[in-house]
Amino acid sequence: MRTSKKLTDKVTWVGKVDWELQTFHGHEFSTRRGSSYNSYLIRDEKVVLIDTVWLPYDREFVEHLRDEIDLKAIDYIVIQHAEIDHGGALLELMREIPDTPIYCTKNGERIIRGHFHQDWNFVTVKTGDTLDIGQSQLVFVEAPMLHWPDTMFTYMTGENILFSNDAFGQHYATESLYNDAVDQCELFAEAMKYYANILTPFSALVKKKINEVLAMELPVDLICTSHGVIWRDNPSQIIHKYLEWADDYQENQITIIYDTMWNSTRLMAEAIAAGIQDEDPEVTVKVLHAAKYDKNDIVTEIFKSKAILAGSSTVNNRYLSAMGGLLEMVKGLRFKKKKAAAFGSYGWSGEAVKLLSEDLAAAGFTVVGEGQRVLWVPDEAALQACREFGRSFVRSL
Ligand code: FEO
Repeated sequence: MRTSKKLTDKVTWVGKVDWELQTFHGHEFSTRRGSSYNSYLIRDEKVVLIDTVWLPYDREFVEHLRDEIDLKAIDYIVIQHAEIDHGGALLELMREIPDTPIYCTKNGERIIRGHFHQDWNFVTVKTGDTLDIGQSQLVFVEAPMLHWPDTMFTYMTGENILFSNDAFGQHYATESLYNDAVDQCELFAEAMKYYANILTPFSALVKKKINEVLAMELPVDLICTSHGVIWRDNPSQIIHKYLEWADDYQENQITIIYDTMWNSTRLMAEAIAAGIQDEDPEVTVKVLHAAKYDKNDIVTEIFKSKAILAGSSTVNNRYLSAMGGLLEMVKGLRFKKKKAAAFGSYGWSGEAVKLLSEDLAAAGFTVVGEGQRVLWVPDEAALQACREFGRSFVRSL
């Protein structure tokens, strides 16, 4: 069965839409709207395959590709990024066409060799290198650490297509293919979640690379990503979103994230939220239970926030494990220009607030004050103190 979709006279989408995917990167990234692994077949005087699909779909990918074209007619394979959601079908494909040159960066060759342990015909490229394929030319642009050392973009002249690999992508399954053919709220929510959870640590490089590509003044009619939609309608809109997101993005939002054993810390969280609203009725306040709310959605809410409050009861002289897992992720994401404070209830030793404050500082937040603690269950006076804590937190921003 042929599942390909023609984009232009020369370019056909030959990827895989994965409606079933629930988590990505193992269990690090929730993908409740599935994903896609976009692969593209270019037919000019030469035939080029750009990227493949995730490893579990390697056989069906190769079978579908065979329905589309005689595999032996493929002159070149371009692997823009070796992670197995894009390079995963190489082993299966190269069984059929073992001598076909694989164009990739130097790091790409190293990583593909590390994954598959095969001595394939690698041709390494760097920024500015070109490949003549007939009427069009492919121009390669290295994009290291966006988000792996091997990542590169490929620009196709004539058709004015930027193949951007992971950049500008979303984990978003759709049969519609194009950005203007899907629900815009879903699309931008997934694009932001993808940026917040994957690209945040590389924001400085994102800005630099985008400005470098913009300076090339290449006409871009399509941005063909490796996940989710192809940007056809006003493709520069996602480029400008990325520039906005890469610039230490924040909205007028404060997010309270907590975990609680017997609800005392929850009562504190709600009182703090009320205090924030007393002081600034315009600010968006969200109160999220770290053990119940999706961790990647929490990360996206942190991404949108100008400040956060982290709360936990004390257990075994530490804070609760859901907050521990979350802060471990947040540390790696290296958010900038955000403020934070800690709070929590305790029964005897009460270390959680101090430890949370230290770890928030280690994660790059500017920690405001010593935090707020409540012994056992908060009474009305303690709740009023939490409310005032919320008010003073807003005043400190
Ligand atoms: Fe979509 Fe970094 O792989």
